Amino acid sequence: MANSYFSVKVQNEKQKTFYSFLCSVFLTITMRILFVCLGNICRSPAAEAIFTHLIEQNKLWKTISCDSAGTAGYHEGQGAYPKMINVAGKRGYKVTSISRQVRPDEDFEEFDLIVAMDNQNIADLNRMAPLGNAKAKICKMTDFALRKNYTYVPDPYYGDTRDYELVIDILEDACEGLLQSITN
Ligand code: 4NP
Repeated sequence: MANSYFSVKVQNEKQKTFYSFLCSVFLTITMRILFVCLGNICRSPAAEAIFTHLIEQNKLWKTISCDSAGTAGYHEGQGAYPKMINVAGKRGYKVTSISRQVRPDEDFEEFDLIVAMDNQNIADLNRMAPLGNAKAKICKMTDFALRKNYTYVPDPYYGDTRDYELVIDILEDACEGLLQSITN
């Protein structure tokens, strides 16, 4: 690969400037967000779908990206929970993510913001965070809420349709607030 198009060996200041230029043209993502819940089949996949919808609506694909993960790996490799897919789908959101567990070393490096759904997620993420300033990236979804009616996103897993609708209500509000806080 040494001489291939994709191998950029920075040798001097001129090349560094050219490399920065290439990055600014082709890789302009400036904010990477990871949404986290327990199982990564209900709340965080819905947050990812709603926030992706906002990114697309606001044509911000080049500057903001998001993903989701769970603090537990119970559902690793599975699609989102059908109840969440259905309820979110009725509101116009496509929940397509595949569950995966948080990968502490990679995720705390790759993402700028790690957005948890509840206080237990926050405690687990703090426990998983690598040494250094990684913990500073952890925050709670409802801290961005505009309406401030909830202090966490409740786990709907064993609940009924209304519990799933409530999750979407809270996430729609908080995702709007999160986008405002990033773009203002
Ligand atoms: P989530 O919901 O954290 O919003 O994905 C849950 C999904 C699965 C389980 C718990 C919560 N579970 O215990 O398997």
